[in-house]
Amino acid sequence: MAIDWPALRAAALAAAGHAYAPYSRLQVGAAGQVEGDSEGGMGRGAGGGGRIVTGCNVENASYGLTLCAECGLVSALHASGGGSLTAVSVVAVRGDSEEGMARRAGGGAPLAPCGRCRQLLLEAGGPGLLVDTESGPREIHALLPSAFTGADLEARRDAGD
Ligand code: THU
Repeated sequence: MAIDWPALRAAALAAAGHAYAPYSRLQVGAAGQVEGDSEGGMGRGAGGGGRIVTGCNVENASYGLTLCAECGLVSALHASGGGSLTAVSVVAVRGDSEEGMARRAGGGAPLAPCGRCRQLLLEAGGPGLLVDTESGPREIHALLPSAFTGADLEARRDAGD
């Protein structure tokens, strides 16, 4: 299935506009295209076929409880029927600067997902999931090498450990 990257980036940017980020002022939006998906959901990827699911970061006065945009995206994936992600765009804009406003108008910059979110994205899309980066789309396994997955749990179950 073709990936409509401009549509995905636009959806991520729109989600960033809904971020609740009063502490860092970094508004993050994430958008993912769902594999082989042809009906319903939270929006459709023009040309790509799969529905697009999105999320934004939600901060908290107890800073450590902050939810990243990718957490919202993965939750939206399951809440809207599940499936596997094929491509993800994460963008960030400064909520308190002229430059942020200009970037928002111009497209927003790709944000490298944090470690926890790489782990979440890997499970939501598998090792071949494409993640947009400053240097173009990259497979998630390259961003999270030697990852711990459900296969590790299975292997230990089989071994009786
Ligand atoms: N953030 C995300 O939403 N995703 C990431 O992958 C990295 C960081 C958010 C969390 C926090 O609200 C803000 O960016 C600054 O760290």
